[in-house]
Amino acid sequence: MQRTLIADALAATAPQRDMTLCGWIRTRRDAKDFSFVEVNDGSCLANMQCIVDAGTPAHEALGDASTGAAICVKGELVPSPGKGQQWEVRAAAITVFGKADPETYPLQKKRHSDEFLRTIAHLRSRTNKYGAAFRIRSEAARAVHDFFHSRRFAWVHTPILTGSDCEGAGEMFRVTTLPGAPNPAEDFFGRSCNLTVSGQLEAEALALGLGRVYTFGPTFRAENSNTPRHAAEFWMIEPEMAFADLEDIMELGESLTRHVVEHCLSQCEADIHLFDAYVDKGLVERLQGMLRQPFARCTYHEAIQILQDSGRNFTFPVAFGVDLQTEHERYLAEEHFQRPVIVYNYPREIKAFYMRANDDGETVAAMDVLVPRIGELIGGSQREERLDRLNARLLELGQNAGDYWWYLDLRRFGTAPHAGFGLGFERLLMMLTGITNIRDVIPFPRTPGSLEF
Ligand code: 4AD
Ligand code: MG
Repeated sequence: MQRTLIADALAATAPQRDMTLCGWIRTRRDAKDFSFVEVNDGSCLANMQCIVDAGTPAHEALGDASTGAAICVKGELVPSPGKGQQWEVRAAAITVFGKADPETYPLQKKRHSDEFLRTIAHLRSRTNKYGAAFRIRSEAARAVHDFFHSRRFAWVHTPILTGSDCEGAGEMFRVTTLPGAPNPAEDFFGRSCNLTVSGQLEAEALALGLGRVYTFGPTFRAENSNTPRHAAEFWMIEPEMAFADLEDIMELGESLTRHVVEHCLSQCEADIHLFDAYVDKGLVERLQGMLRQPFARCTYHEAIQILQDSGRNFTFPVAFGVDLQTEHERYLAEEHFQRPVIVYNYPREIKAFYMRANDDGETVAAMDVLVPRIGELIGGSQREERLDRLNARLLELGQNAGDYWWYLDLRRFGTAPHAGFGLGFERLLMMLTGITNIRDVIPFPRTPGSLEF
């Protein structure tokens, strides 16, 4: 079907005779001599206003099609005398593909609550807000790929089905083809199988051959944490670099974040302004502010000191050795530094076995990027590349080194300093849109008790 996208039609520099637009009716107003039909096709936030003269075949064909109907309009693109738009279409012919019964079509009103729209996730991309959110999601993904390709990273595809149940990043979903509580030895793979919580271990293997790699794909965590920042299925970006240290990935994480913000501010202007106007006043200013100055940096030690000196009564008390909770992370980024902050050198006890031990014997070369309103956006580290240290750490944690044979091989054969991180893509989108619930930045969210679509 030959058609012009509304985004392109609205950018026209001259009138055009024969134009075909397809989309869904957002609103229809009938006057005596004509009908105004606002059509949206998802290519941009704006609608195209179509004028259908009464008594014409086009008007006849339009019939009683109303909000929600899918139609095709052929006609002339002409300057609009009305306010609010530069162009409009004078319809010469109309096809109605599918009507939407006004009695039952759920998107009649102009505004609906986010909670209601979650119950109709299959329709919500037809609203301004969710159309905008998912267009920004697409542009942000493009920016991520552009960023890594410009730095010569290879995009690698790590497995979603994993035999390792010991990545330590969270509770896993079990995958089986057998009923009941099966014996893994009799199952499809002859061993237990889970959905991946992170592609990191495989990305490390690939980085130690390709040099610089990144993953960008879905990850799964079965934590029963019903928070606005956790989803059971979310997308993660995990770069991994050979011949790199903690400093290198701090720089990488900050540059990546800034690049995506910059790209979306310039490429999704109308969509981001919608969020600034209706969802999070001050969003654009905050994003621009992020670009004006470098991210703050402080060690975990300093962060604890700042929190203790804050005089705040946190729900989770602060002491050296505790893991930072969202309330602490947000205090640091939102109130103390008032911008993103990179906290590094965490105590080894609260971090994963693969993080590189610092010489102080107490901390590891880990870093988290914390951002206002969200908390943790990025978590990463330099990896322990010394075989003896890694073995000792596994032993200390009571882990079976045999389960990690291939991971340890990477330290046996040509080991090299390397480092990487994971960035939660939905958290990044929350930052870019001001949306406060992760369920609203992913089209079909998976959270405890919720798997309708
Ligand atoms: O800090 P996490 O657990 O780190 C890892 O998985 C490492 N293996 C990453 C690496 O070094 N390659 O997760 C990384 C990021 C978090 O900072 C957060 O942004 C996001 O993933 N994240 C979640 N996002 C949505 N829902 C969840 N349940 C999430 N858990 C983590
Ligand atoms: Mg983390």
